[in-house]
Amino acid sequence: ALADEARRVAAEFEYSAEDVNKGVREFLREMDEGLVKDGTSMSQIPTYVTAVPNGTEKGLYMAVDLGGTNFRVCSVQLHGNTTFSIKTSKVPIPRELMTAETAKELFAFLAKQIESFLKQHHEDHYFGHLERVETGGGTVREEDIFDLGFTFSFPVHQIGINRGTLIRWTKGFNIADAIGKDVCKLLQDEIDELKLPVRVAALVNDTVGTLMARSYTSPGKTGTLLGAIFGTGTNGAYVEKLDRITKLKKAAEKGEIGEYDQSTGEMIVNTEWGSFDNPLSILPNTPYDESLDKESVNPGIQMFEKRVSGMFLGEIVRRALLALLEKDGGKVPLFRDENSNMNDMHTTTNIHDNSNLFKQWGLDTSFLSTAAGDASQGLKITRQALNRELGISAASIEDAEAVKLISAAVGKRAARLAAVAIAAIVIRSGRLEIATVGDGTSEEDVIDVGVDGSLVEFYPGFEDLMREALREIDGIKEQEKRVRIGIAKDGSGVGASLIALVAAKQIRRMS
Ligand code: BG6
Ligand code: GLC
Repeated sequence: ALADEARRVAAEFEYSAEDVNKGVREFLREMDEGLVKDGTSMSQIPTYVTAVPNGTEKGLYMAVDLGGTNFRVCSVQLHGNTTFSIKTSKVPIPRELMTAETAKELFAFLAKQIESFLKQHHEDHYFGHLERVETGGGTVREEDIFDLGFTFSFPVHQIGINRGTLIRWTKGFNIADAIGKDVCKLLQDEIDELKLPVRVAALVNDTVGTLMARSYTSPGKTGTLLGAIFGTGTNGAYVEKLDRITKLKKAAEKGEIGEYDQSTGEMIVNTEWGSFDNPLSILPNTPYDESLDKESVNPGIQMFEKRVSGMFLGEIVRRALLALLEKDGGKVPLFRDENSNMNDMHTTTNIHDNSNLFKQWGLDTSFLSTAAGDASQGLKITRQALNRELGISAASIEDAEAVKLISAAVGKRAARLAAVAIAAIVIRSGRLEIATVGDGTSEEDVIDVGVDGSLVEFYPGFEDLMREALREIDGIKEQEKRVRIGIAKDGSGVGASLIALVAAKQIRRMS
């Protein structure tokens, strides 16, 4: 009976080939809509980055990254031959800072981390600079300054390569005071307060960093098309033709934005696809999705992200398991004490009242990866994880099978939704129409996609599941093999450095 009930719940997460195709059509529509005007569901933010690298870029840059699991600081030496060396430090972001009273608290913390990084990894540089500033009456030498790429992975209305105001927080951050403020200035002010030799040269979304990093390390014939994150959140940035971004032209005519480089005829656009289809015109919506959203800090927004990314998948599974447990007045034999009487389920379940199963966000998405990928004898690994994560000490094989089934269903739906986004961007790029050479896997024909994030890295078979869906999509089908998906590790470090480099060049060219 448990197996049947679990199958019924898992079936609620099915997302058919027809659904996927409908999704792609809506995604294309929202992409186009977002290029024309502001305030749309998908923001389609112009990034002022107008070219992808080709691997020959050189120099020493700094980068910081706020928006994933950790706050990172790094310095990157680009060697100019598609390789680089990187020094990194990372700290988890204190939870209380994610919902601090003022933006200053958060940004002061970030500047402090930059200071410790410099002291630890660039000691001579840092102390030399400090001494010169003190003896030189406060003057800073241009050659002492690090250009820094600031990866800030939230929706920002960009008005220049190093200027942009926060539109809204996502991924559990919530500091009202920061909305509408220029996040580069917030960081620069705190950096200046500590007298650090650092200039915030570029504002970077993690997806843009991923795209740049991927293009630097694996430059194909046409460069990478798309950088995508499937981690705590999900989002993508892609190379768009400038003349299609009509809202940019309009803003320039109205004098709302400064000059921008038009020489390449292209610009990277940050889609903010986490908010694809907020009105739920085509997205699946189970009771678990619905209650998750209602009880989140941002109901009604990031609806795609809430079905696809790491921050939410564990919570969906938790809610589905709870529903199963409560079904038929608690008569479904899930997590039942082996020695108990089948008819007396309420009092004899195997779960403590304070189990994480009863707490919002109590189940981490890494649990999904563990359960969905469990091939151990008697699902021992899942049973151990149930004990460790949820305090269910004597889970049966049947329990573990139910959990595995539901976890895999939620993961599979996420991957198929992810394919919707990738497919739409590949189709819109027009690159599929370029004549194929041979079987479509030669370098000329490859459409390169760089990905990063804990979900795509650790969820078993995420890429295969996406590919399966890609093959079901009209306009892609067997051309799926032309799409090359590769991990761009540490996109934010290398990618942000590359953008800091581009920014410094652009500033020079325009002045
Ligand atoms: C990292 C990138 O590897 O992946 C970050 O460098 C990005 O910029 C992160 O935000 C996303 O992963 P997660 O799983 O930490 O959200
Ligand atoms: C969220 C943010 C977006 C970011 C993504 C991945 O969707 O809004 O800017 O790129 O998470 O980290």
